[in-house]
Amino acid sequence: MPPYRICFVCLGNICRSPMATVVMRRLVADAGLRVQVDSAGTGSWHIGGGANPPAVQALKRRGYDGSRHVARQFGPPDFADYDLVVGLDRYNVDDLRRLAPDDEQAAKVVLLRDFDPAAATGDRDVPDPYGGPDHDFDHGLNLVTAACEGLLGRLPVRR
Ligand code: 4NP
Repeated sequence: MPPYRICFVCLGNICRSPMATVVMRRLVADAGLRVQVDSAGTGSWHIGGGANPPAVQALKRRGYDGSRHVARQFGPPDFADYDLVVGLDRYNVDDLRRLAPDDEQAAKVVLLRDFDPAAATGDRDVPDPYGGPDHDFDHGLNLVTAACEGLLGRLPVRR
């Protein structure tokens, strides 16, 4: 059986989706699940670059290594490579649904914090921390972690 495949998608692919990837990879590894976890951005500005240093530092404060990230852009052909395409905020979700080549691919798009049982109804975005203080990155990592734990429990995969 091929692994279940997830792609986290934010705007720049240097802050939020790289953090989600590192956290989710740890969770699936700890759970002994065979799941491929990648990330991408809807924007092209940072293609080929590393994660934003404050994101790497926020990860490091929690014991994660975010130093090996290489940013890429998500395009219509990428849908075929994933079972689930997870937007970090509602704008990412809207952009992804517009990018999807057909309804079948569009149906793969979900919002990350919809998997957080503690998320309030209403605003379910992981806010864009780019250019903000360290506190915003720590907060984003908290939101990402809670939602990834929820997502782990909803994956259609068994050990
Ligand atoms: P991200 O944050 O979507 O969480 O990676 C951003 C990073 C860069 C830009 C926007 C958001 N930017 O405009 O360059």
